[in-house]
Amino acid sequence: MSKNCYDDETFFQGYKKIRESQNNYNDLLEQPAMRDYMPDVRGKKILDLGCGYGRNCVEFAEGGALRVVGIDSSKRMLETAKKESVHPNVEYMRLEAERLHEMNETFDIVYSSLVFHYIEDFEKLVLDISSVLKGNGVLLFSQEHPIITASPDKGLDWNYDDKGREISYTFTNYNRQGRRGSHWFIDDVITYHRTMGTIVTTLADNGFHIDALYETAPKPFAVQKYPKLRKEFLKPNFLIIRARKMRILKEGLMKNETRRFLL
Ligand SMILES: C[S@@+](CC[C@H](N)C(=O)[O-])C[C@H]1O[C@@H](n2cnc3c(N)ncnc32)[C@H](O)[C@@H]1O
Repeated sequence: MSKNCYDDETFFQGYKKIRESQNNYNDLLEQPAMRDYMPDVRGKKILDLGCGYGRNCVEFAEGGALRVVGIDSSKRMLETAKKESVHPNVEYMRLEAERLHEMNETFDIVYSSLVFHYIEDFEKLVLDISSVLKGNGVLLFSQEHPIITASPDKGLDWNYDDKGREISYTFTNYNRQGRRGSHWFIDDVITYHRTMGTIVTTLADNGFHIDALYETAPKPFAVQKYPKLRKEFLKPNFLIIRARKMRILKEGLMKNETRRFLL
């Protein structure tokens, strides 16, 4: 199993502190948007890819999901999940997203919150997800927005006016895709930058119909709770995509033909 920064003690504690803080971006920006796009979970089988603490798994089970499988490659995150997010309909497995094809089960919904930017081979990931999704099944994922994965120094790239107010945000080398290292609690946290075009086209080329693409903006409740969040009107922080596995992707149909057919 390859190295996962969430198993590093300093990283794990730093991330935990952020998630426990009142005004974290997951609770204020990303999760409210993901809930807007989540299909009805009642009676569904759901895979939570990169489930972390397992909070979403329990949420889905409590919402009526028949079975929820949470996979994650971090030993520490899964230990927390198994302790804090327990439900009879939820099962956790330690599995890298890169080995998803080894799963012997299919799901109605694949859900993934803030994991895809850690995965190097996006096309393989999309194909593997397709292999565990039933026909017409839904993939809902969030990831760092491509503007963020293209930041020169992640999280620190605001530009300020002479009164210290944020006026813009810098990203760079947008069209140079691939591995980026940054400092987030520890040095060399590796993420992968892909353009919006690559993300959308890879999904379409592999038989997914995108029915929602949302670039996060703060909701009124969030700004009220944390007024500093207004700066997030200057750029989107997260990208959220909901896509459906098309039944029409038949064996023998080439990728480009599929795309023409879908268009
Ligand atoms: C930002 S956290 C999000 C956790 C959870 N989805 C949530 O929203 O609370 C990213 C998660 O992705 C997991 N992860 C990173 N790379 C992974 C990989 N290659 N395979 C499986 N999980 C991975 C990490 O261990 C971590 O739990």
